[in-house]
Amino acid sequence: MNRIFSGIQPTGNLHLGNYLGAIRNWVALQADYDCIFCIVDLHAITQPQDPAALRNSTREVAAAYVAAGVDPDRCTIFNQSTVPGHTQLAWLLGCMTPLGWLNRMTQFKEKAGKQRDMAGLGLYSYPVLMAADILLYKATHVPVGEDQKQHLELARDIAGAFNRAYGVDYFPLPEPQILGTATRVMSLRDGTKKMSKSDPSDYSRINMTDDAETVALKIRRAKTDPLPLPDSAEGLADRPEAENLLDIYAALADRSREAVIAEFAGAQFSGFKEKLADLAVAVLGPIGAEMKRLVAAPDHVDAILARGADRANAVAAPHLAEIYETVGMLRPQHG
Ligand code: TYM
Repeated sequence: MNRIFSGIQPTGNLHLGNYLGAIRNWVALQADYDCIFCIVDLHAITQPQDPAALRNSTREVAAAYVAAGVDPDRCTIFNQSTVPGHTQLAWLLGCMTPLGWLNRMTQFKEKAGKQRDMAGLGLYSYPVLMAADILLYKATHVPVGEDQKQHLELARDIAGAFNRAYGVDYFPLPEPQILGTATRVMSLRDGTKKMSKSDPSDYSRINMTDDAETVALKIRRAKTDPLPLPDSAEGLADRPEAENLLDIYAALADRSREAVIAEFAGAQFSGFKEKLADLAVAVLGPIGAEMKRLVAAPDHVDAILARGADRANAVAAPHLAEIYETVGMLRPQHG
């Protein structure tokens, strides 16, 4: 059976982009793959995190997976720091990753900003840890949003470099799965910017735990242009906000972009936004409520994570032993 690995950073509010770009697709894929879904707490600390907030956020991301329909009996759900193989493999892979490959990573450039010399080494080697996440389980498929594409290409390059260096066919080259109509959900305040956890304006995103009133208010205030909605996809050229809202609608309704454009052709934004708000509340409302319920009594979530860590370790440890053997690490046996 093909194996999926994917993950989300516990760094703040989960939003509609995380849901449509990642979690919702995972729910659909779990029937056909052996799935491992991680909460990547080691990636989170590549930027400063408050310890208590990090712990809460880790539970909240786990709760989101379960509330959205990821089945913890069928899938492995765990947080990254509980499986030591991630950092161990990251070291080996880091030793064979040329700096030139990392220098191309646009996310590092964005996150490091102007003060690049002050950025941490972890932020720079972030994509190597991400490659280790995937390769530790010999995952074949990685369902993510569009923004992770470059990191996945690097993971494939690193897998290929390892196989070539040791003359083995050990790591499968992981395939990105960028699925659906909302692979890149944009900010509600600026249709040219990605919806993100780190945007200072909460009005830029719909959080998975926002209540119905807040969702409606954010959609009502979403930036638009003065024209009515177009009657064809070509009419969306240079209208990023219209395009984003229509794509969100299509994704939430599980319909094609064309069908949604046809339904709202010539409509004013005000009426369309009301329908979009109703739809967003209908889809996200029950998930947000279940997330809050799970987080309020965290024992259940903690038990899921503990079981997931055991299962993940059981896959990871023998792989790591094989990898150490391949690389030439001596493993003396006691007694
Ligand atoms: P992260 O935490 O930034 O995002 C988690 C997932 O949500 C997707 N996503 C979006 N999709 C559509 N529109 C958006 N506006 C949007 N924002 C986020 C992301 O593409 C991602 O799928 N590096 C990863 C976490 C990671 C990982 C991995 C993923 C660590 N190791 C191994 C896959 C495999 C990240 O920061 O995702």
